Amino acid sequence: MEQRAYFGVEGIDSIVAQGLRFGSQVLVQGETGVGKTVLAGEFIKEGLICGDTCIYVACDEPPAVMREHLLGFRVSARAYEETGRLVFVDAYDQEWSSEKYRINDHGNLDKYFALEKQILQGYSGQRVRLVVDSLSTMLTGLEANEIIDFHKNRLKFLRKNGILTMDIFVNDVLDPKVMTSAAHLYNVILKMNFGGSAIRPIRMLQLGKVKSGKFTANQYMFNIHPVFGIVVALDLEVLG
Ligand SMILES: Nc1ncnc2c1ncn2[C@@H]1O[C@H](COP(=O)(O)OP(=O)(O)OP(=O)(O)O)[C@@H](O)[C@H]1O
Ligand SMILES: [Mg+2]
Repeated sequence: MEQRAYFGVEGIDSIVAQGLRFGSQVLVQGETGVGKTVLAGEFIKEGLICGDTCIYVACDEPPAVMREHLLGFRVSARAYEETGRLVFVDAYDQEWSSEKYRINDHGNLDKYFALEKQILQGYSGQRVRLVVDSLSTMLTGLEANEIIDFHKNRLKFLRKNGILTMDIFVNDVLDPKVMTSAAHLYNVILKMNFGGSAIRPIRMLQLGKVKSGKFTANQYMFNIHPVFGIVVALDLEVLG
């Protein structure tokens, strides 16, 4: 039977009850501080538990921050790194980084794609999850054509090689038109944003697809719990 994968967040997994195919591509898009990196941590934890190899490209914070997040979820990143099941790419651009894989020039997409391919080829035939947090950082300041070209080629390669990909985008970093074109290329789109009022903000998520330029999905409230991570209120569906 074909292997399916899950996010590792109960509320989200019950929405995508059939799971995700390896080779599918998930776009996570949302406001800063909403919980995208927490979600990425849970997605990686789920992969490690299920025997997948997980690759985390840290662009917005050093890899140490994700190691800490994982520890908060009772996962020892170091132990998995030693057995080669968890790989960090330091794209945070710190000169003193001692990480094995480093990218220190954001915007050099050829170099990034070459490194990504090189790492992935070492895991050929295995179940691999790849998380880029955030891909929008890597694409900042580049021409629309360059972004779309990179995007098409990269996602084609990842799909062909059965890599389960989670690309994270921070809201309002890229031009909205580029963002919409990019979003078309993903199988699943997860939007995470704040709703409610400035005094009482509420975290909301939507899971769906872009079709003919339109994003349609149901909307749910969620919280972030220090131990359980993202907790979705499935019984409180909000009209989108
Ligand atoms: N392990 C944790 N347990 C509980 N709360 C956490 C945990 N990690 C982060 N948080 C809280 O969750 C919020 C969201 O954090 P997160 O880093 O996931 O946001 P983000 O969407 O990735 O933001 P950015 O776009 O700035 O990277 C933070 O405000 C933080 O207070
Ligand atoms: Mg983050």
